[in-house]
Amino acid sequence: MLGINRGRAQPRANRSWPFAGMDLADSKRKSNIVGKILFVVTLTTLCIILLQQSSSFSSSTAFSHREPGVTHVLVTGGAGYIGSHAALRLLNDYYRVTIVDNLSRGNLGAVKILQGLYPDPGRLQFIYADLGDAKAVNKIFAENAFDAVIHFAAVAYVGESTLEPLRYYHNITANTLTVLEAMAAHRVKTLIYSSTCATYGEPEKMPITEDTPQVPINPYGKAKKMAEDIILDFSRNSDMAVMILRYFNVIGSDPGGRLGEAPRPELREHGRISGACFDAAAGTISGLKVHI
Ligand SMILES: NC(=O)c1ccc[n+]([C@@H]2O[C@H](COP(=O)([O-])OP(=O)(O)OC[C@H]3O[C@@H](n4cnc5c(N)ncnc54)[C@H](O)[C@@H]3O)[C@@H](O)[C@H]2O)c1
Repeated sequence: MLGINRGRAQPRANRSWPFAGMDLADSKRKSNIVGKILFVVTLTTLCIILLQQSSSFSSSTAFSHREPGVTHVLVTGGAGYIGSHAALRLLNDYYRVTIVDNLSRGNLGAVKILQGLYPDPGRLQFIYADLGDAKAVNKIFAENAFDAVIHFAAVAYVGESTLEPLRYYHNITANTLTVLEAMAAHRVKTLIYSSTCATYGEPEKMPITEDTPQVPINPYGKAKKMAEDIILDFSRNSDMAVMILRYFNVIGSDPGGRLGEAPRPELREHGRISGACFDAAAGTISGLKVHI
C-alpha cells in the first residue's frame, strides 16, 4: 500500500515541481503587478480627495454662504452667447456669479475670459453640469447659497426644434421644471426666465406687445411657452418673484470685444438672424438695406 502510494505520489510530485516553480514566479509577478496597481489607485484616490477638498474649501467659503450686501446669482447657460454677456454685466455690477453650463452649445473660452476679468475669490465660479440631471442640479443648489437665478440654458434653434422636438421639450420645458423645483426646495426666491418672441407665433397684428396672444407654431416656441406657464402657475401661489423676458433676435457683442456670438459650425446653417438680413447684405433684394 505504501509503495503504491509512494509510487503514485512521486510521479505526481515530479510532474508538478517544474510547474509549481513557474506558478510561484508567475504569482509573484502577478502579485507585484496587483500591488503596483493598488498603490497607483490608492495614490490617485488620495489625490482626487485632496483636490476635491481643496477646491471645495476655497469655493465653499465664498459661494456656499450668504454674505450681507452680496447678491449671488446663478446664471444657467452662462457659457453661451447671451448668458456670458449677462454674467459680464452682473460681475461688473459687483454681483457674485455662478455659471452652470454643460458646454453642449456654449463656449468655455467665454468663461475663461470672465474668469480672467474677475479672478478674485468669491466673484465667479463655473460648474460643468447638465440641467437634465436633477440630482446634479439639487446638489448644486444644496452646496451654493443663491439669491437669484437667471435661466438662459437652452437649445435655441427653431429649425432644429422641428427636427428634434423631444429634445426641445426635454431641454427647455422639463429642465425649467427641474430648476424651478430646486429653487423651491432651496428657497431661492427670484427667477428671471429667458423666453422668446417665438412664443407669439405669427401674430395677426403688429407690432407685437405683451398683450399679443401667445400662439407658438413650432416646438421651440411651444416648449418655451410651456416653461413660462409652469413658472407663472407656480409663482401665483408662492413668494417667488419671477420675470419673463421674451426678446427677439439678439445681435452684437460686448463693446470691449471680449465676448461675442460663436455658434458651432454645424449650427450656423440654423442661423437665428432673419433671412432678410442676409438677403439685404448680399444685395439679392433691391431696396432692402441693413442699418448698423
Ligand atoms: N439668441 C437669441 O437671439 C435669442 C432670442 C430669444 C431668446 N433666446 C433665449 O436666450 C437663451 C440663451 O440663448 P443664446 O443665444 O445665448 O444661446 P446659446 O446656445 O449661445 O447659449 C445657451 C447655453 O445653454 C447651455 N445649455 C444648453 N442646454 C443645457 C443643459 N441641459 N444644461 C446646462 N447647460 C445647457 C449651452 O451649452 C449654452 O452655453 C436661450 O434660452 C434662448 O432660447 C435667445
